[in-house]
Amino acid sequence: MAGDLDRDALTGKPTTGHEWDGIRELNNPLPKWWLYVLYATILWAAVYVVLFPAIPWFSGHSRGVLGWSMRGEFAERWAEGRAKQSEFQARIVAASIEEIRADPRLLNYALAGGRAAFADNCAPCHAPGGAGRKGGFPVLADDDWLWGGTLEAIEQTIRHGVRGSGAESRQSVMPAFGADGTLTEAQIADVAAHVLTLSGGAADDSANRGKAIFAEQCTACHGADGKGVAELGGPNLADRIWLYGGAKHEIAAQIAKPRIGVMPAWQGRLDPAAIKMLAVYVHALGGGK
Ligand code: HEC
Ligand code: HEC
Repeated sequence: MAGDLDRDALTGKPTTGHEWDGIRELNNPLPKWWLYVLYATILWAAVYVVLFPAIPWFSGHSRGVLGWSMRGEFAERWAEGRAKQSEFQARIVAASIEEIRADPRLLNYALAGGRAAFADNCAPCHAPGGAGRKGGFPVLADDDWLWGGTLEAIEQTIRHGVRGSGAESRQSVMPAFGADGTLTEAQIADVAAHVLTLSGGAADDSANRGKAIFAEQCTACHGADGKGVAELGGPNLADRIWLYGGAKHEIAAQIAKPRIGVMPAWQGRLDPAAIKMLAVYVHALGGGK
């Protein structure tokens, strides 16, 4: 081929020398850097295919010589996390609640675990953070306790519940003074008026008449001063904290035909570590009498 044919007359570019029906092929090589990147990716892909799971097959895929898989990595991390946790779980199970409270690391773990277990199991009735709900679901975030606010008392309540069927469930039922005819409607109004004076209400004739009835019928469970008896779950009537409302008609309704709160037992439903962590958490909410 003649030398002047090696360059295209129109573009001035070199040709490959190939010619088809008078059309000549220009020689436009790929840029060097582009080629090197291409070779590098091919090499990388080849190495990757050998080392890692890559090629799909009917019932799975190639495994790669490293044996790595995302699922395996997850399982490993998960097991690591569980191992760390189970170390704490075991220490919580072994420690007394007082020991948990005394060890800052255990305490932190218990408070976090207790908060999570509380949100899952207790918040439906006691509201998030133990704020309580109307109609007999007590506030747990104050220092007013029906059944006692020590760590043991709280753990006992959580473990065995209140007015359940279990042998160790806390029991006590306020009599229905109206429904069973112990007190007349007028006497109930009088004693309700007296109950209001316990938390600072003004005493009138009705309340004065009610005072004697209270001393006779109510002090066994609510205390001589009306400040409650924790062994019997008799609430403090002198603190303006009410399960069922503090209006006179609400108090009278409770005396005539009491509502009775039931708290489920958690032993058997939650593991012992969770119950301990809940006791520590609830105790910390209330400030613990
Ligand atoms: C189905 C509703 C319900 C659920 C769920 C529930 N509770 Fe209760 N809880 C109650 C009621 C009602 C009372 C009040 C019992 C009474 O009137 O003496 C109570 C009382 C308590 C008390 C005693 C409060 C005091 O003043 O002495 C504690 C502590 C307590 N609950 C903790 C918990 C914890 C912790 C959980 C979750 C593991 C939980 N409760 C789940 C209904 C519930
Ligand atoms: C056998 C024990 C017992 C006796 C006796 C008793 N109570 Fe109670 N009372 C309770 C218990 C227990 C509760 C809490 C019920 C609950 O937790 O659901 C309660 C609750 C109440 C409440 C509601 C408190 C609140 O926070 O809403 C009032 C009011 C009350 N009692 C008044 C009286 C009066 C007045 C008498 C006497 C005429 C009386 N009680 C006698 C055990 C008793």
